[in-house]
Amino acid sequence: MRTVYVNGEYLPESEAKVSIFDRAFLMADGVYEVTSVLGGKLIDFDGHAKRLARSLNELDMKAPCTEDELLAIHRELVARNEITDGLVYLQVTRGSAGDRDFAFPDPETTEPTLVLFTQNKPGLAESPAAKTGIKVISLEDIRWGRRDIKTVQLLYPSMAKMAAKKAGCDDAWFVEDGKVTEGSSNNAYIVKGGKIITRELSHDILHGITRAAVLRFAKEAQMVVEERSFTVEEAQQADEAFVTSASSFVMPVVELDGAKIGAGTPGPVAARLREIYLEESMKMAV
Ligand code: PDD
Repeated sequence: MRTVYVNGEYLPESEAKVSIFDRAFLMADGVYEVTSVLGGKLIDFDGHAKRLARSLNELDMKAPCTEDELLAIHRELVARNEITDGLVYLQVTRGSAGDRDFAFPDPETTEPTLVLFTQNKPGLAESPAAKTGIKVISLEDIRWGRRDIKTVQLLYPSMAKMAAKKAGCDDAWFVEDGKVTEGSSNNAYIVKGGKIITRELSHDILHGITRAAVLRFAKEAQMVVEERSFTVEEAQQADEAFVTSASSFVMPVVELDGAKIGAGTPGPVAARLREIYLEESMKMAV
């Protein structure tokens, strides 16, 4: 039985409760973060805390506590649940005004809801999929226009994962106006002629914390990075492809819509970036 955190209390998961009028439950009016834990330490915590603050700000939502308090809660949950490798999930919602109403409640009288829980994933960094690579399908991106805000509106990404599964694949890449936006829960990249290509930041994609770190490490290692969008056809003809996220780090993609990418096996650039990312981010873990 896990210990979880709800609005100031550490509780057994079976005793944790949130109102049925909570705006995240009724309106998907909430934002979240997922931070990985390796060797009992938090990876890229500062980036996740900063992005959370940005998501809250973009939605005129009140911060439930300070960044230092958030860090303390993360650490306490990791310790109480004896997590060596895994994830910490955090969600902030606009809270409950005790009824259903499209209008936002007054933040002076309605407190945000803050929930955190851990997911134990022993050997998270040694995922077998990193050795074989994953297969993806492409799907039309019909999500809303502010994908840079990390909201809990995840129905379409869930449907995309199910469609991928049904097609015998692992994940989906979303496509808008003929160009890949991002993966269902990760950022998407191709490698061509040694160049790392990934869509530029905008409202169209989530500004991945892993993306920021990986691009920084790539540049430090003298690799060439080009931030621009690319088509499915370009990806199918690339030398390599991969995705990044807090839960998969750097994950090679070896097939897109049935077409093998490169040799159809994980490529050297993805493998190298995964190695550098894990090594460097563990050094900076808190
Ligand atoms: N997803 N794009 C989307 C749509 C995502 O949902 C995520 C993360 C990313 C990668 O962001 P980061 O590197 O900060 O994890 C990109 C998390 C892991 C999730 O929903 O579980």
